[in-house]
Amino acid sequence: MKNKLLTDRAALFLGDAARVDAVLAPNSIDAIVTDPPAGIGFMGREWDSDKGGRDAWVTWLADVMRKALYVLKPGGHALVWALPRTSHWTATALEDAGFEIRDVVLHLFGTGFPKSLDVSQAIDKQKRNMDEVRLVTRWIAEMRDLAGLTNARIDAAFGHNGMAGHWTTQGAQPEVPHAAHWPKLLELLGIDELPETIREITERLVAEKGKPGPNWFRRAITGHHEMASPVQRWIARHGHRANLSNGARRDEPATDAAREWAGWGTALKPAVEHWILCRKPLMGTVAANVQQWRTGGLNVAACRIPHASPEDLSASKARNPGRAEPVTSAVYGASRPQQRIDESGRWPANVTLDEAAAELLDAQAPGSGASRFFYVAKPTRTERDEGCTHLPFRSGAGACGRKEGSAGMNSPRAGATSGGGHNHHPTVKSIALMRWLCRLITPPGGAVLDLFAGSGSTGVAALAEGFEFVGIERDSDYVEIANARLRHELGPEAETAQTNMG
Ligand SMILES: C[S@@+](CC[C@H](N)C(=O)[O-])C[C@H]1O[C@@H](n2cnc3c(N)ncnc32)[C@H](O)[C@@H]1O
Repeated sequence: MKNKLLTDRAALFLGDAARVDAVLAPNSIDAIVTDPPAGIGFMGREWDSDKGGRDAWVTWLADVMRKALYVLKPGGHALVWALPRTSHWTATALEDAGFEIRDVVLHLFGTGFPKSLDVSQAIDKQKRNMDEVRLVTRWIAEMRDLAGLTNARIDAAFGHNGMAGHWTTQGAQPEVPHAAHWPKLLELLGIDELPETIREITERLVAEKGKPGPNWFRRAITGHHEMASPVQRWIARHGHRANLSNGARRDEPATDAAREWAGWGTALKPAVEHWILCRKPLMGTVAANVQQWRTGGLNVAACRIPHASPEDLSASKARNPGRAEPVTSAVYGASRPQQRIDESGRWPANVTLDEAAAELLDAQAPGSGASRFFYVAKPTRTERDEGCTHLPFRSGAGACGRKEGSAGMNSPRAGATSGGGHNHHPTVKSIALMRWLCRLITPPGGAVLDLFAGSGSTGVAALAEGFEFVGIERDSDYVEIANARLRHELGPEAETAQTNMG
């Protein structure tokens, strides 16, 4: 692996996380804080593919984490990000690798959109052409077998992830290839011309592609749902409206079947992410392990939740007379560069939350609970771009490989950004959150490892907390961004190292 940045305190490797044991010594790392892929093909990204299914994905992550366990000190903790939908995969991989699962820290956020299908609308959109679609997919499957091909090879030829499965299935989601895909597909199958019946059906199905069935046009439009954000308004005007429960049109069912299922959807509003807290087995007792290796405990004192000071509270009340105490960074001070360490603060809980989630909680039960949890401001564009404004700017759609306004831009992943920027990584984490997580599990001056460093948020946070940092990332564009952000955080230290390296 190629080391892009090296000072006494920071190293960044361009390469595969599965090779971590080739670049780091056994028992050399104090803590792992990492945000791995979730296996959901996030925004069409190949790095987030499921590697061929549940078992393959778990085997892959378990292999990486087994090597990470080898470089971690006995009793060292890891905080590993996971999405609720595939969190059990991540936890299984961690256990298989040899970690003990200790807890799950929930991060609550209020900004996710429900990516829900309107069941009633879907019924009226249905087309009655499935038999014909399956006729085409059966034919493609037969030709594939005759040509001695596999779906994986077809996908590889197109650079797709799983599409060939839809083109060849008799199952639930058959798909006729787009017009643009046919010439290459026929070439792969070794066929000069489509048989007459298949050609006739295919041309009609391709022309109807993306168009709803006739009942859709019989639904009476009664208005539009309220749209919270400019992105949602944009999507409602130009995007795949029917995928969104918010920002979608209001209309009346056209058929009895659609009437029966009016009000039904398929997804909840995403409002939580997991950080799985796990530990490499101790050598002996906690007391013995901590003294020998400096690992094994959690830094409770440094992560307490400060009580709001009287000045903060009265300043806040003056701004919001008559309202329940709002949750702001002015009150909690959590995202300030120097977090107050208050021995009398609240014991850190296994919940953190962003401003929107805090306001929701506070509105439901005024003054009740939000202030008990670590509050994290959402990362701003300025925070994401800090240190890398000299790198090229990429627009939102270009940055995440999606069309502007498409459903994929409307991501359930917290911190997911459709805004583009100099740091155009689509899942940049908040520095305040990463600082708190690093501080919780790393002994003073210890070394933090991020196996999936992305744009380097863990590294910036670890360095800001005075820790050492080692990051691995396999995408060279992201390494360049992480390198710039880390250098900015290191300041003159990085310049000196650069000079020494010649
Ligand atoms: C969810 S992102 C991390 C984003 C990061 N937390 C940030 O704030 O920028 C996961 C990253 O893992 C990288 N990745 C995926 N598979 C990898 C592998 N086998 N080795 C190293 N990096 C990998 C991807 O390129 C992606 O940037």
